[in-house]
Amino acid sequence: FEVNWNAEAAEKGGYEHFMLKEIHEQPKAVRDTLASRIAKDNSAVVLEELSWTEEYVNSFSKIFIVACGTAYHAGLVGKYYIERLARIPVEVDIASEFRYRQPIIDDNTLCIVVSQSGETSDTMAAMKEAKRLGAKTLAVTNVVGSSIAREADQVIYTMAGPEIAVASTKAYTTQLIVMFLLGAYMAGLRGTVAPRRMKELLGKLREIPSQISETLEDVEPIKVFAKKYGFNTDVFFIGRALDYEVALEGSLKLKEISYIHAEAYAAGELKHGTLALITTGVPVVALATQKSVYEKTLSNIKEVKARDAVVIGIAAEGDTELTKYADHVIFVPNTDELLIPLLAVLPLQLLSYYTAITRGADVDKPRNLAKSVTVE
Ligand code: G6P
Repeated sequence: FEVNWNAEAAEKGGYEHFMLKEIHEQPKAVRDTLASRIAKDNSAVVLEELSWTEEYVNSFSKIFIVACGTAYHAGLVGKYYIERLARIPVEVDIASEFRYRQPIIDDNTLCIVVSQSGETSDTMAAMKEAKRLGAKTLAVTNVVGSSIAREADQVIYTMAGPEIAVASTKAYTTQLIVMFLLGAYMAGLRGTVAPRRMKELLGKLREIPSQISETLEDVEPIKVFAKKYGFNTDVFFIGRALDYEVALEGSLKLKEISYIHAEAYAAGELKHGTLALITTGVPVVALATQKSVYEKTLSNIKEVKARDAVVIGIAAEGDTELTKYADHVIFVPNTDELLIPLLAVLPLQLLSYYTAITRGADVDKPRNLAKSVTVE
């Protein structure tokens, strides 16, 4: 008898594609990224690799976050975290734009670059430019010893493990974790978050890995949507606040691997432009997990429903309103609205994966895209 041993199949650990394997590795990736970075009593974030002082953090008048692709989307969430928690102004830039727009930088600027591979040339060039102008640099990367890790003044590693699929999944969620840790770390030094609130947030952060596992358990409804809507030519993603940043990532995932034209819109902005494109049967993935803007989001959902769109809602468990207006609702476990992007993005990753499968696309190696882009 013959043993047909296929190394790649073995590496995929029983999953059909690396992307699906990596989606399911997220509980572990996030747990590893959090490990030993939260004080035992949840009172503070511990980032030994930084060892910053209050004075050092207070010296930053401005922070830039610079990245490409999915890492840029993680940066958008990072801006929210740092501004909300540490109250320092943050600007997020696409790396290929940043260095050509004469950004205003001095030695009171912190430039954070985010890169899974640590090799993206635009990101590297942007960091060098920031450094040249006097900024302090901090890399958030997944690859130890990568070019960007070596060039930066300081590094925080995501502990996602190797990511093979071109479409990034576990790198994104672990980047979100690092961004949150960073925001809370700076907040701790600056005293911008009350101790009780800090404990509450870090306590909830600890629950995220098991909530990710819980969310990934039930993929059947998502497979059904993928089959049902997988052949549409356009899909819209809408949301407000952090839901908008997650919508951008969901729409990118779908474009990257299923080649469906997808657009993410800040829900309140639809009426200033593309609402005309929302016609009968157009699928709209509507994220409504942000409590502070919940009513506003709901009224935007009613607007698209009035144009007979098919609304697939993403909501936090316990939401009883959204089912009244959406055609389908996917629930994710409840947590703080700052942390819920870590859960809300999961059904979107799965939706793009199963849509690509429905369309027979090459999930792990989408056409014209590379995992790491080392040319400008
Ligand atoms: C490529 C990949 C994307 C990735 C981006 C940034 O375009 O296809 O998935 O988000 O590069 O990569 P990095 O390694 O810098 O995070």
